[in-house]
Amino acid sequence: MTYWESQWGCYPDGNQQLLDEARFWVRIMKEHAMFIQLGLPGCDTELIREAQAFADRFQMLETVLDDVTSIGPELLQELKQAVMEFIQYKRRLLRARIQCQLGGGLFPLLLDHITREAIHFLNALERGQPLMAGSFEELTQEEVFWLRIMKEHLEFIIHLLDPSERTLINTAEELKDTTARLLETARDLDSLTRSQPDTFPALLRFTDEVLSTITLVRDFKATGYELALLCQILSIIPTPLLLDHVRREADRALEEISRLLSETASR
Ligand SMILES: [Fe+2]
Ligand SMILES: [Fe+2]
Repeated sequence: MTYWESQWGCYPDGNQQLLDEARFWVRIMKEHAMFIQLGLPGCDTELIREAQAFADRFQMLETVLDDVTSIGPELLQELKQAVMEFIQYKRRLLRARIQCQLGGGLFPLLLDHITREAIHFLNALERGQPLMAGSFEELTQEEVFWLRIMKEHLEFIIHLLDPSERTLINTAEELKDTTARLLETARDLDSLTRSQPDTFPALLRFTDEVLSTITLVRDFKATGYELALLCQILSIIPTPLLLDHVRREADRALEEISRLLSETASR
């Protein structure tokens, strides 16, 4: 039994996997729309209305995805269209933020971060099915994507915690440093894969390290979420849901990287 199978059961087939991916990301998109709403200045009523419309649209798609057993061409088109329009909206907000035409509590890097996540989802929809081929390059590219996301989650959390939360900030800083180091290595290894080696044992060893670090990051977020629900954290985190959101993304990273590792290891 492979690592992936022992952790998450048997491999679903292509369409099943796309459905699973769409269900995951549509919920994430809906929550991005909710977080944007919370971060926009109260006077920007038109932008808030647009964010609400995206939240409603992704909620509707979430309900549809719950009821289907596979994604037909029409639904696929609808998903792509919604994600493309959401990417444009997020970019519009980021542009306004960079040009100092938008106030509120949305970090520019956060807007960029959630745009990259939407692009990741759009790429999966356009491929028709998730990465399954098991090439070293696909593995390193996924690692670069997810390690950057994990590093930024920790950076956002560090900025949102109250300065008096020194222990939590310290833990987050340490995890962020480890993640940043792994990201740098992942970029190096990604470049090394261009020589198209037949075997790459060092990459497999490195991937185990990536998985254990992301597991620690996931556990840190899960603990943070529990503490936030109990009102035991001092912070300006707008809602505990944000911590649950980033925890689910860490679990997704573990799933995707493990699946690709298992594919490449059995080449
Ligand atoms: Fe997200
Ligand atoms: Fe994220």
